Amino acid sequence: MPASPSATPEHIKDVNTRYHDAAAHSYDAKWGIDFGPIGQDQVEGKLRKALDGDLPDTLGRVLEIGAGTGYFSLNLALAGRIDSLTATDISPGMLESLSKTAANLGIEVETVVTEAEVLPFDDDSFDTVIGHAVLHHIPDLDRAFSEFFRVLVPGGRIVFCGEPSRYGDRVAAAPKRIGTLAGPVWRRLVGASVLEHTEEELCDEEHSLEPEVDVHAFAPADLRKIPPGAGFEEVHVSGEEAVANLWGWSMRSMESTAVPDSIPIGWRNFAFRSYIAFQKVDTALLEPRLPAEFFYNLLLSARKPY
Ligand SMILES: C[S@@+](CC[C@H](N)C(=O)[O-])C[C@H]1O[C@@H](n2cnc3c(N)ncnc32)[C@H](O)[C@@H]1O
Repeated sequence: MPASPSATPEHIKDVNTRYHDAAAHSYDAKWGIDFGPIGQDQVEGKLRKALDGDLPDTLGRVLEIGAGTGYFSLNLALAGRIDSLTATDISPGMLESLSKTAANLGIEVETVVTEAEVLPFDDDSFDTVIGHAVLHHIPDLDRAFSEFFRVLVPGGRIVFCGEPSRYGDRVAAAPKRIGTLAGPVWRRLVGASVLEHTEEELCDEEHSLEPEVDVHAFAPADLRKIPPGAGFEEVHVSGEEAVANLWGWSMRSMESTAVPDSIPIGWRNFAFRSYIAFQKVDTALLEPRLPAEFFYNLLLSARKPY
């Protein structure tokens, strides 16, 4: 869903770099990114689901694609699942933020600014290639998956989580609208102030580029077809988050109508904890029973043959 179907790959990559550079400083707060026990629990849960329960003690030498501020890999490192970490991203700003967080957390990481379609690494140099919420930004997925295949050792695996499903993306429009409409009542209830966008803010990088950064929402069957094209086997695609997604988008849309600093901390804690509780409901009740198509987020894993 690029803003313009005629957008060239170079334009999409340029927009992604500028948008994420501009978003880097407020990214963790906006998305409620946690580097404590909750964050670690979340990413280990995603890894377990993506690998269909076959969770190894360690992922070995890990390369992350589109690492952003480090939500996925730094939490996996904190959970003791990574031997060595190389974090890559097309946005230097996101990697700067990741490096600061890694230093604060005492995690050793090599950061490399690169796009996913051309990786500056030798053949057979990683045991696992991972990513979270990145595939839907990459214009040429076949080329990117060929690169993941090349840099993996035989028997190495790819694990990608947090990719928007086509159905989930459509369904998310409703809570987004409801959240925005409920904004004035909610602000009065919690005592938050309205966020007035100035002309200047509306023209800033982050606001103006937002509609152009996403290029795909996946049908599970289409996502399943991509890895074999590059040579992968043992492809597994599953889905997660239904109720949590509806709840999360309505909370986030209400909050986006308020000045961030005026939102009471008590509300922020409630919104975060209730979202985590709904994630648990999805994991326990819906994910084991419903097909991947039904969920907002898709998870993918595959193996390079031995
Ligand atoms: C939605 S953010 C996710 C960040 C992080 N993985 C997370 O889950 O918080 C997507 C990330 O992918 C990066 N990205 C976008 N297009 C890319 C490309 N073609 N190659 C590599 N990274 C890309 C962006 O700069 C951004 O940091």
